[in-house]
Amino acid sequence: MLNNLFPNVRPRRLRKNKTIRDLVSETKLLKSKLIQPLFVSESISEKQPLESMQGQFLFSKNALLEEIEYLQKIGINTIALFPNVSESLKDVNGTNAIDEKNFICKFVSEIKEHFPEVILITDVALDPYTTSGHDGIIRNDVVDNDLTLEALKKMSVNLAEAGSDIIAPSDMMDGRIGAIRESLEQSNNKDTIILSYSAKYSSNFYGPFRDAVGSKKVEGISKASYQMDKRNIEEAIKEAELDLQEGADILMVKPGMPYLDVINKLSTNVSAPVFAYQVSGEYAMLQQAIDKKIFEHNVVPETLISLFRAGSSSVITYYAKWVAENYDNIS
Ligand code: PBG
Repeated sequence: MLNNLFPNVRPRRLRKNKTIRDLVSETKLLKSKLIQPLFVSESISEKQPLESMQGQFLFSKNALLEEIEYLQKIGINTIALFPNVSESLKDVNGTNAIDEKNFICKFVSEIKEHFPEVILITDVALDPYTTSGHDGIIRNDVVDNDLTLEALKKMSVNLAEAGSDIIAPSDMMDGRIGAIRESLEQSNNKDTIILSYSAKYSSNFYGPFRDAVGSKKVEGISKASYQMDKRNIEEAIKEAELDLQEGADILMVKPGMPYLDVINKLSTNVSAPVFAYQVSGEYAMLQQAIDKKIFEHNVVPETLISLFRAGSSSVITYYAKWVAENYDNIS
């Protein structure tokens, strides 16, 4: 049947040259839709290259301010901050996470003082602060959900008061969005946006990130006891619906490319913007292949386009800066 349509139907007509292709293209890659993650430390005085993530750095405070100024100049206006906490400040309960004077809160206030128009996203989870590397507090050999919620509420209010525009719970405790939303309301932080990592999978693609924030050593307990099972997609919808009912504004799928089906399903089934996180392992694989000249650097926009085509509204990617530097025709 289809064969009879030819030669009346010739899809190649719409591929004749770049101008035509641009006219009929369905997906845009815009730098206004890219978010740059940045790793920060208070115990270094200059930026240091990250071994596990070639081309990415651990920033000192001053280097961070310079980097943000530069990112703004090239059109990247949204930043996700991740602290690398020194070992001496970590303990079993991740106590430093709930200290309103901890360095990440101080950095957030200072960034907002210098760059009020930059949108700052801060992560809400205990893993950079616990000696176990877990996202929660351990009691009786499990990551205790309800005990952890108390810490997350305090941490969220601190980060909101320090000036975060968006807080991003990435811990996967049950009921955290409701608990955090209520605490934000009660503390009069009504306009703080919650970007919930709704479908955060227990993934092996986070390895280089755990190196970067120093949360590598996860004891006996598995993160699979709170992060989502890779084999599930229906469950992602359940998590997303719960988070929306509890007061989330934006939902996240993480990792990115290996979970395109999840991005697509969530964005078509739930009424909220869905962001994707192209995580450290995806970045490290691409960088390796690019360094070895197996791939050209142009493979990067292709990976990002796939995330947008699947339905992402915005993407957190370690390539945000690179894209803005290398593609001046996008805006
Ligand atoms: C932890 C957190 C992780 C990432 C973002 N927040 C790692 C983990 O769950 O162990 C991973 C990001 C990346 O790999 O780029 N709360």
